[in-house]
Amino acid sequence: MDYTRLQILEDTGYVIVDSYGQAADPQEWHDIEFVDWKSSGDTRFAPLASAYGDMECNGFWNHTPPKTDKDGVWVPKNVAAAPILTRRAQEPGANIGRCRVIELQPNTYADAIYNLHRDDNNRLNPEGTGWIVRAFFNLTDNPDSVMILREDKDDPSTETRIPLPAGAQVVLDTQRLYHSVWHPGAEPRYCLITSYESGPELESWILARKPVNRIVTPPLDQAFAEAAYATAQERRDARARALAAKGADPTFGDGTLRAGGMDEYEAPVEILSEA
Ligand SMILES: [Fe+2]
Repeated sequence: MDYTRLQILEDTGYVIVDSYGQAADPQEWHDIEFVDWKSSGDTRFAPLASAYGDMECNGFWNHTPPKTDKDGVWVPKNVAAAPILTRRAQEPGANIGRCRVIELQPNTYADAIYNLHRDDNNRLNPEGTGWIVRAFFNLTDNPDSVMILREDKDDPSTETRIPLPAGAQVVLDTQRLYHSVWHPGAEPRYCLITSYESGPELESWILARKPVNRIVTPPLDQAFAEAAYATAQERRDARARALAAKGADPTFGDGTLRAGGMDEYEAPVEILSEA
């Protein structure tokens, strides 16, 4: 038995829908409480829905009792401070798991390549139910920033870069695609990230918003890109050596190297610490 999946994500793993009129809304992300639950200094998160309604952002499977990334419980204080963001998260009508605003500090293309990772949304998710995917609603206007997606982490030819102006709305299979955000600029980027269960509700919401599931990504300057790949690889190698020296498994168990400083990451803090 497999999971219920969205057909529109089958081809590329991503879909971009109509932009939201973000400029008309108050900047609620400045009114909510952010928590530091991991060691990276590059990101902070503000939960709108967490595993049991507490002001924390840990993966639902890391709680007692553990649960899959569904049936998130609204966090009263942040929901009260961000009613519009909450309504937007609820708009598709699908089951919601983790729902949070991310704050991402500016970074480089090399940082983003280093940060490429897949999520673990479907841990404990029973087959026969909906596959968990994630929506990214960009809140700040970051037209020069991009969501980097790769089908193969080590193959730049599989890379897609989705621009992130205010109001950009993207649904990703983040357990299939490696992803990270390249955010040049001077100010932090804010984005609403919500885990949804695939099913007719989410599909209807997507199909009503002129979905585009393939865009053309212009090539980067080759020397610039290759320098960034080399920098990212050096950092991965250094990290693997540091973790090995501590006796920690430097991989997820499948040979995928752990990295840090990423936009979403569900590993124990001690494994994330930069050595
Ligand atoms: Fe992620």
